[in-house]
Amino acid sequence: MERAEQVRVLKRLMDHIDNGTNVDAGGIRHNPAEAYTSPDIAAREWESFFRSHPQIIGLSGDLPEAGSFVTHNDFGVPLLATRNQNGTFRAFANVCRHRGAIVEETSRGKKNLFSCPFHAWTYSSEGKLVAVPKEEHFGAIDKDCHGLVELPAKEHCGVLWVHPQADGQLDVDTLMGGLTPEFTAWDFASLVYIGDDTYETPMNWKLAIDTFGETYHFSALHKNSLFPFFHGNVQGYDIYGRNHRMALCTRGIDDLRNKPEETWHINDGAFPVYYMFPNVQVNVGQATVILVRVYPHGDDPDRSFSRISFYARPDALDSGDNTIAELATRFAEIIRDEDYAAAASSHRGLRSGFLKEMVFGRNEPALHHYHNTYRDALGMEPLPLEEA
Ligand code: FES
Ligand SMILES: [Fe+2]
Repeated sequence: MERAEQVRVLKRLMDHIDNGTNVDAGGIRHNPAEAYTSPDIAAREWESFFRSHPQIIGLSGDLPEAGSFVTHNDFGVPLLATRNQNGTFRAFANVCRHRGAIVEETSRGKKNLFSCPFHAWTYSSEGKLVAVPKEEHFGAIDKDCHGLVELPAKEHCGVLWVHPQADGQLDVDTLMGGLTPEFTAWDFASLVYIGDDTYETPMNWKLAIDTFGETYHFSALHKNSLFPFFHGNVQGYDIYGRNHRMALCTRGIDDLRNKPEETWHINDGAFPVYYMFPNVQVNVGQATVILVRVYPHGDDPDRSFSRISFYARPDALDSGDNTIAELATRFAEIIRDEDYAAAASSHRGLRSGFLKEMVFGRNEPALHHYHNTYRDALGMEPLPLEEA
């Protein structure tokens, strides 16, 4: 985040505190319960947002060196992502060209050759087929035509993007929505991956996104966890194309007023959280960054899971309070045990059939923005703004 923007955001938060105001969506919106419960909408979202839309699979630190790889199957594509010998990020369908077996089952590691467990066809980190055992028995095949199917992949200001379809378009400028300078200034590319966690939750995937979309709940739901450290009813909000940035206001901002402006750092008084369409939250702390990727289980509207990846600034690795165990525990106690538990409770309530719709307040502009973004992407009418 550039300096001038850090100061602008901090000053705006101070103004809100001084004037007793908050961000304002200009009205309220009602969102139909079926947005969370309809199998039809869930199927369209799975197809449009996960099977046909570029995905953030992690940050540069997930592939720290030549030969690093990660695999997963989170959006329905068995994925093998590698960093080749030149340091270039590549992505492939993790599917053997012989008879379709999954080539690499390990979730991450370092390897230059990937040998299929079925008959040991072997591929390089470039996806090239380099060995076919007993080729004189099998028959001569053109190895150049039997490499792993490559997927569009781009490493952009520390973010790893993949398109799930081999012929998909990956236009990072559009995907970033103007956030490239800000992400570059954060130097996400230098972050070190330190571990991950997964939360399985009986709720629609958008309810997980929703819980990151407002701070209105801090004084109630997080009364004993976050609220002592945050001004709950004050936040910053800015839109970047289909993405947005929230600035949660920490109580550290009260001390900043007495310090010279040129010494201010955004994390002294705020905690930026970026939402990247369709399913990613980037939580940026002073020493650590936590990436949250939320996925439905295919077209099931009632179940979702979140992949939580933890990264640290290289100079913070030895500070002691950023160990993966400590970070993962702290994050799970708040996000999994408070936010997601409340969101799953919303899902049960919506499933009860008693509500036709839920309400987004004036102080919850993120919910207005991305629910209308989702609707627009599915060709649905926007939720109308109502005076309140
Ligand atoms: S399926 Fe992979 S080597 Fe046969
Ligand atoms: Fe929360």
